[in-house]
Amino acid sequence: MIMNNQTVISQFILLGLPIPPEHQHLFYALFLAMYLTTILGNFIIIILILLDSHLHTPMYLFLSNLSFSDLCFSSVTMPKLLQNMQSQDTSISYDGCLTQMYFLLVFGDLESILLLVMAYDRYVAVCFPLHYMSIMSTKLCVCLMVLSWAFTLLYSMLHTILLAKLSFCEDNVIHHFFCDISALLKLACSDIHINELMIFIMGGLVSIIPFLLIVVSYVQIVFSILNVSSAHVLHKIFSTCGSHLSVVSLFYGTIFGLYLCPSTNSSIVKETAMAMMCTVVTPMLNPFIYSLRNRDVKDALITLLCRKKSSL
Ligand SMILES: *[C@@H]1O[C@H](CO)[C@@H](O)[C@H](O)[C@H]1NC(C)=O
Repeated sequence: MIMNNQTVISQFILLGLPIPPEHQHLFYALFLAMYLTTILGNFIIIILILLDSHLHTPMYLFLSNLSFSDLCFSSVTMPKLLQNMQSQDTSISYDGCLTQMYFLLVFGDLESILLLVMAYDRYVAVCFPLHYMSIMSTKLCVCLMVLSWAFTLLYSMLHTILLAKLSFCEDNVIHHFFCDISALLKLACSDIHINELMIFIMGGLVSIIPFLLIVVSYVQIVFSILNVSSAHVLHKIFSTCGSHLSVVSLFYGTIFGLYLCPSTNSSIVKETAMAMMCTVVTPMLNPFIYSLRNRDVKDALITLLCRKKSSL
């Protein structure tokens, strides 16, 4: 809690979505359905990869980490949004707000780093197919995952500590449906230069560098595809890289749409819609993109269902 001359801010008010009251129920049902789909889809992916030994390859272990991250990402915002849509009291405590912001940063950044790790995995698989197993050893995979998690946990802690140092005055209304770091900075009444600088530098590093590296690895992949003549190998490359590329486009498309669009015509509605895309739609679609385009995942699902049936 931050002490101020006149006020002590112990809670924030989340204004929520700009939805007219007569449509509240419709949107509530829609968001609930989307949230349940996200939970179910990602949960199935994690279970399939856990149970099917054919899927114990680096690519699928990374995918199950991505699904876990997606699941958590939408669980940070959606339950609170759904609860707020139902009740009159849309406040969130100061600690609750910072906690939400912290985990939002953790899972958002984890997503971008996991996509990078998965791109590297595809690059090795396509460009060095014969050495794939020795390069992507269990040791390296575990190492990459531990580093990704450790990095995002610390990185988000940095932003959260910097934010916790700020003091907040009378205005505690957040024009958003979750505790967004930029929305909180707008409410602060102490100097936020250092926060903005860190977001600019670190945020840039965390989103631009993975994106550039992903582009570089795909350029390499395209060059090595040009030398492949076997249709079977080409098909395999397209199916695994295609899923990854779709997820990457979806993720970075919404991020760039959110932050790089000209801010002159950006209304609250547009901003909210883009934030919805990031936190709800992307995590919901990822498991479908992977399972619908991918034979291995489909086979694993069929095997699992058949096994259940025969054991009954
Ligand atoms: C994440 O990846 C690591 C390393 O490949 C793996 O051991 C672990 O089971 C994965 N975690 C989840 C939740 O899928």
